[in-house]
Amino acid sequence: MTRNVLQVKEKKDRYTVCYMPGDDSGFDMMEAAMLVLNTMDLPIDFVRADLGWCMWEKSVAKFGEGDARCNTVPPETIKKIENADATLMAAITSKAGVKGFKSAILQMRQLFDLYINLRPAKVLPGVGTPLKGDPKIDIVLFRENTEDLYAAVEFNPLPKELYDVHKGMERFKKCSEVAVSWRVFSKEGCERIIRAAFEYAKATGRKTVHNCNKANVIRETDGMMKKIFLQVAKEYEQFGIKGIEENADATAMWLIKNPQDYDVIVASNVFGDILSDEASQLVGGLGFAPSGNIGEKAAIFEPCSGSVPKYAHQYRVNPCAILLTAKMMLEYLGLDEAGAKIEKAIGEVLVEGKVLTYDVLRDFRGDPNWEKDAASTLEMAAEIARKITPGISEARIEQAKAKAKEMCDWTKTVGFDE
Ligand code: IPM
Ligand code: MG
Repeated sequence: MTRNVLQVKEKKDRYTVCYMPGDDSGFDMMEAAMLVLNTMDLPIDFVRADLGWCMWEKSVAKFGEGDARCNTVPPETIKKIENADATLMAAITSKAGVKGFKSAILQMRQLFDLYINLRPAKVLPGVGTPLKGDPKIDIVLFRENTEDLYAAVEFNPLPKELYDVHKGMERFKKCSEVAVSWRVFSKEGCERIIRAAFEYAKATGRKTVHNCNKANVIRETDGMMKKIFLQVAKEYEQFGIKGIEENADATAMWLIKNPQDYDVIVASNVFGDILSDEASQLVGGLGFAPSGNIGEKAAIFEPCSGSVPKYAHQYRVNPCAILLTAKMMLEYLGLDEAGAKIEKAIGEVLVEGKVLTYDVLRDFRGDPNWEKDAASTLEMAAEIARKITPGISEARIEQAKAKAKEMCDWTKTVGFDE
């Protein structure tokens, strides 16, 4: 029996969780998450690690621009992720056009071979869906996370010899500049993500798994994925699970027309990237979208939302995405009950509607005074903590808040310290 990678390797009485605030508003999100988690008496020891733009700047200051040791991820952080049972990450800032800069999360996906990107999209009470008729949306998307165009095998200029490897390149010979990014799929890569999706469906009693591809046009890569999908699907028919393959462009359309028809989706990296953003938009958008990067060696849970640099350290961002991400992480650790409490509490605060961040007021309540009426990230998080533990004292909330602040001090990053 292969182990279920969606569950921590080893069940323990206490877990070590590495937490990484990232950059900018990532710190605000993480502080909110810690405020809530600190009130919950979880069997978890938290270890701080940093990564992202802040570490890039620190390494450039330390080693000098152009030094090969400059990176968005310090060696200390890699060690901590390796040694933790799970990692919770907030959001990082990427800057285009910086020489040598490599995205921290893309590096971690490759380094730890985090081949599953698990992205649920489920309607939340009090947020709902922008679609007519309030369709029931509860989709779990498995995005392949290491291959495809993310293999980072790219050329510009294209080496001379590569013009001759395929007759299709003939017409490009006369072009002034030609760039090529290889779309690499492997049988192993396709099979493991497809199996993860079916195994999940089997374990959770879900009845369909959709594979979204463009095998009708992209014959080799998508053709191979489709073939493997249909083979694996046969094995799961006996469990009453139906495998359905369709064109990814059609999925993009049907997701809006009939989202209730989707249950588990498995997609290659790029299609999964796009379709997961679309699916999240059906249930409130990125402010509510969690994800997990999971493999045999590690699991890094991160919200899909960005680090919103313009609001850095202003506590304006919605704490729900990171809290729903923390819920996924707790489930990974087998702490399902604690995870369920978080989700339930978020729903209660959203339905009650008294303590909401600006985006919820503006986008889901149509409040013309959203700017003025908005609660801060921490106020909303504290309200969620009150729902998780009814009757919790304000002193306890303040204590959790102070601890969270200390844990997420953005002036004290760790890494590149040796
Ligand atoms: C995501 C993001 C990342 C990706 C970016 C930030 C590198 O869009 O996690 O979906 O492209 O995978
Ligand atoms: Mg994305």
